[in-house]
Amino acid sequence: MCNYTISFCNNYIKLANFLFISFNKNMKISSVNNIQNKQPVFNSCFRRYSYFSKPFEHFAKTVIRNSTNFFREDLNWNDLTKYIIEHFKDIKKVNAYSLACSDGSEAYSYAISIMENVPKSLYSKFFPVQACDIDKEVLKIANSGRINADSMEFALISKNYNILMDEYLKDRDVSILINGDDISGTDEIHSYKIAPSLKNSVEFKQSDILTELKKLNDEGNSVIMCRNVFPYLSYGYVDEVLRTAKSKIKSGSLFVIGDYDKSRNIGEKLLSEGFFNPLKNNEQNSLIFERK
Ligand SMILES: C[S@@+](CC[C@H](N)C(=O)[O-])C[C@H]1O[C@@H](n2cnc3c(N)ncnc32)[C@H](O)[C@@H]1O
Repeated sequence: MCNYTISFCNNYIKLANFLFISFNKNMKISSVNNIQNKQPVFNSCFRRYSYFSKPFEHFAKTVIRNSTNFFREDLNWNDLTKYIIEHFKDIKKVNAYSLACSDGSEAYSYAISIMENVPKSLYSKFFPVQACDIDKEVLKIANSGRINADSMEFALISKNYNILMDEYLKDRDVSILINGDDISGTDEIHSYKIAPSLKNSVEFKQSDILTELKKLNDEGNSVIMCRNVFPYLSYGYVDEVLRTAKSKIKSGSLFVIGDYDKSRNIGEKLLSEGFFNPLKNNEQNSLIFERK
């Protein structure tokens, strides 16, 4: 190994340790702890180290960029769902969007949460969720009818929300490759077949946030999830997204961001652009914005 390679590997391992990523003997990631909290740190390290090597860039792109999971913990899904049902109770159709949807975990979490709280006769009011992502590869998974999930999280979802994930995810098998790599965060990650009723509740397409917002024909009946994506976008693009959100989203509609977006002050910007937090009883609910 030449010095350059050793130095790169040392940096790579140091950074991985710092981020609480551990590898097994085949250099496959065997566990990732608190990676969401570490993303801003990772980003600044990544900027410093990215010129070292393409593999590093690939690592960052695959492990971090598409990272998502069912019932992502930054939101209180129960409070959000209950608010949506009550807030739109007199409205015939609620249009839900998951912009930057990754493999679909977010859109499916929304759909499961609604299914658990409304009768079947109301499914057509809330579905299909329109989901989009810019990444063709991750959309192949979203459209495959299977999805990766961490079985360790199922117990947490059952405890927090009283939801049995086994009813929605069946036929456990090996995890699916994302962007050509096995980036399964832990050995507990497997792929599951999505139950047909859930699969039918979400429609995926390749598109980007700005294109979708510009096309939005909102009448104050939308729930737009645009979460944990802003730090990946250029400053100019973010400004345009916020300008478009302000002009296209009508009074009463919701715009939901993620914890990771706080590093770009998206919440503060939305508050100064005609949005408010309708639910403020806890930290997680400060990610939910409503157009005044
Ligand atoms: C970290 S994931 C977030 C997934 C999900 N929203 C969540 O919070 O769990 C970010 C996703 O944004 C997508 N993305 C990045 N730039 C985008 C853009 N301009 N338009 C749509 N999707 C984008 C990436 O491909 C990736 O799948």
